[in-house]
Order: sequence, then structure tokens, then C-alpha cells
Amino acid sequence: MIEGRGLRKVFKSGIFRNKAVVAVDGVNVRIDEGEAVALVGESGSGKSTLGRILLMLIRPDEGKVVFEGIELTKLKGKELRRLRTKMQLIPQNPEDALDPRWRLYDSVAEPLRVHGLCDKNEEEERVLELTKAVGLKEEHLGRYPHELSGGELQRAVIARALALNPKFLVCDEPTSMLDLSTQATVVRLLMKLQRRMDLAILFITHDVELAQIVGDRVLSMAEGRIANSVVC
Ligand SMILES: Nc1ncnc2c1ncn2[C@@H]1O[C@H](COP(=O)(O)OP(=O)(O)O)[C@@H](O)[C@H]1O
Ligand SMILES: [Mg+2]
Repeated sequence: MIEGRGLRKVFKSGIFRNKAVVAVDGVNVRIDEGEAVALVGESGSGKSTLGRILLMLIRPDEGKVVFEGIELTKLKGKELRRLRTKMQLIPQNPEDALDPRWRLYDSVAEPLRVHGLCDKNEEEERVLELTKAVGLKEEHLGRYPHELSGGELQRAVIARALALNPKFLVCDEPTSMLDLSTQATVVRLLMKLQRRMDLAILFITHDVELAQIVGDRVLSMAEGRIANSVVC
């Protein structure tokens, strides 16, 4: 369903851009429909870069990304944008995914509006359905991000990410900013939605225990490479 072959990404860094960091170094990875794959590794091992390459938020220097048989690395502009609606990112910090000036309702409705998918009534219905699916209440929809807890914010980000019925989610340490008990409820929510919607998920974490709970398989990454793969 989603596959990366021979992926490589080098960042130029340093103030003079004279240092090269090989963030992803010849990675092959494949996630099947409805499969949850966990990606563990220390900070700086290249996990986020790999996740963003699979979503084509970062273009790899080498290698290809194939999604449902279509080579994304060959596409540009409109075609790529259309397919990218089927793949979504849940970032570590929910505030990165929500506009602080918008009420929650508008954040969740925005993807539907951008793609002109429904009229006002259908939009309201869909937003309410998504809100319920992630365990938020109607009253949350009138609030701004700063009026919500971390767990509620992350639920809202998940609702927004699901608006266009994606097939593939990259969850990049989605619970690492939350306290432990909230962490557990958000992880349970993601696992429930994954089964219900038959989502393919790449779940990035530095927590090996969590990786084993969430993943059907666990990939471990070190220095830009996938070191080993464990079936749970
Ligand atoms: N935009 C960037 N510019 C320069 N270096 C980057 C950039 N993004 C990531 N890196 C570097 O690439 C390496 C891998 O980063 P990252 O993928 O964020 O790792 P992880 O998510 O496992 O912590 C790190 O050394 C990081 O500093
Ligand atoms: Mg990261």
C-alpha cells in the first residue's frame, strides 16, 4: 500500500551549510493496508525525516515512494496534492496542526471546505461525526486551541486528519507531549480508529514498550538506517 525504496536524504546544515547530515540512508520500508508499523529509535536517528518522506512532505534525494501502486516521487503539483489527502500526519505537538485563531469547528471543517466536498449541512454532520469518533463533545467545537487540554487538542488534530478518509497515517510521537494517563487514552483511540477504518499507520516513538503495544511490527532505526524488524 505504501512503500519506500532506497530512500536517502542528506541535509546541509551549519551556518555556512557546509556540514552534511545523512538523515535517511538507504531505507526500504513497506506498510500494508490496515497494518500498524511502529518505528523506534533514538532522537536524531531519522524517524521524522523518514515519516515525512513517505508523506512526500520532504522529497528524498534518492529512492522512490510508491502509494497504492502510484510512484509519488514522479508526481508534482495538483496530482500529488490530490493523493496526499489520502495520507496524513499527526505531529508531536498538536498546536502545529491547528490554527490558534480558529475555533475547533473550523479546523476540523477546513479540509472538507478546501476540497469542496460538501454543502453546509453535510459539513456540519461530518464534523459532528468526526468529533464523536475521537471522543470530543459538541461543546468543544466552539473553543479555541488555548481553551483545550493537550489530550483534547490531539483528539482534535486526529479528527481533522481523518476528515478526508485517509488510508495512511504517520503519527510522529503523537503522545510524547501528554501526561501518562492521557497518553494511554490517545493511543487507545488511535488503535481503535486504525482497526475501524482499516488504516495503515506508521507510529513513530522513542518508547520501545509503546512501540510493541501499537505495532503489528516494530522497525528500529539508527543513524538513518532500519536496523532490524521484529514481528509482535
Ligand atoms: N531540516 C533539516 N535541516 C538540517 N538537518 C535536519 C533537518 N531535519 C532533520 N535534520 C537532521 O537529520 C537528522 C535526523 O533528524 P530526524 O529525522 O528529526 O530524527 P528523529 O525524528 O529520529 O529524532 C538529525 O541529525 C537532524 O538534526
Ligand atoms: Mg522526530
